[in-house]
Amino acid sequence: MQTAHRFDHIRESVIREMTRLAIQHDAINLSQGFPDFSPPEPVMQAAIDAIRGGLNQYTITWGYPPLRQKLAELYTGRLGWQVEPDEHIVVTCGVTEALAAAMLAVLNPGDEIIILDPAHETFRPGAKLADARTVSVVLQSPDFRIQRKALEAAISPHSKALILNTPHNPSGRVFDDEEIAAVIDVVTQHDLILITDEIYDRILYDGREHVSPGGLAPLRERTITIGGMGKTYAVTGWRLGYAIAPTPLARAVKPAHDFLTICAATPLQAAALAALNLPDSFYEQMSEDYHQRRALMSEILSDLGFVFTQPQGAYYILADYRGLPIPQAQWDADRFARWMTTEVGVAVVPGPNFYANPADGEGLIRFAYPKKLETLREAARRMARLKG
Ligand SMILES: Cc1ncc(COP(=O)(O)O)c(C=O)c1O
Repeated sequence: MQTAHRFDHIRESVIREMTRLAIQHDAINLSQGFPDFSPPEPVMQAAIDAIRGGLNQYTITWGYPPLRQKLAELYTGRLGWQVEPDEHIVVTCGVTEALAAAMLAVLNPGDEIIILDPAHETFRPGAKLADARTVSVVLQSPDFRIQRKALEAAISPHSKALILNTPHNPSGRVFDDEEIAAVIDVVTQHDLILITDEIYDRILYDGREHVSPGGLAPLRERTITIGGMGKTYAVTGWRLGYAIAPTPLARAVKPAHDFLTICAATPLQAAALAALNLPDSFYEQMSEDYHQRRALMSEILSDLGFVFTQPQGAYYILADYRGLPIPQAQWDADRFARWMTTEVGVAVVPGPNFYANPADGEGLIRFAYPKKLETLREAARRMARLKG
């Protein structure tokens, strides 16, 4: 039986594999980025009410109208142009689907899309769906800064788009004005389309504020802004995201979404509206909680001898294990991560998984810390043996 070659060179999701391994070995799962605490009570109640209230059939393809209305209000403020609910918004089954739909919408076979490595593992397969080529620009550890020269070097006559994820998984970077200025220059000078992944837009540290690149004047006409509900509201399993773009781009995303999934889950879209209506106090509390989690995770990892940069946003630490005083510190990252999961009882993701060229991520593993403090403390107890 001959199957398509499309995914011949795409590896299985190592993150999901690590989750399966964690379940099998009863490890604490610090591999896949999902919370082990509940979503806000009013959001859960809204989902139940929506099901009981009869919101159980397809919504309009682009999304539940009151949710799009709310998103339009929020993003008109954020992007600085009049976002129309019927024109510019597509609610999708997670950010993953929004990214795939965006790439299907803008890439022709043979087009090139620039991806900044380390990158979330969904970007490259998404481009593959569109039969496009990916070109990697490596952000060098430990700073993971965007360098204008490196972006320029990635440009070719086939360059069509660039994906920018900020706050960034797995490095924890929030790209600063200078870096965004480099993106603006390269994207505008080479007539690229920018696809942003802003799934961690509400998880920021030390008073940082999120700026949507699609709201910056030079990028407005050429950006597909993507966000999602999973991380902020602790509902990763609800599979809710959205893409927001000016008319010509939104028109291209719509059929891609329509024929991929028809629509996202109706009652959960209604609950997403409740989430977006949560008061400021929710975000204040969430920020405080994530500062605590970051502080605890950082303390645990520094005490053990891991080397890393403190995250500026999102909820991951990409750490170098090569200085640990144990023989396993000499192992490659894949072997080390598997040993951590099966023997130490703490599941992590091997760094090479985030790079087109796996060698670029050698010596690194990623810890996800959207967990109860007691979960992180238990992980610390198990990792005590890493002290040698
Ligand atoms: C940067 C980034 N993009 C996309 C996703 C996937 O988002 P979703 O679960 O909404 O499909 C994740 C999940 O970890 C992520 O970290």
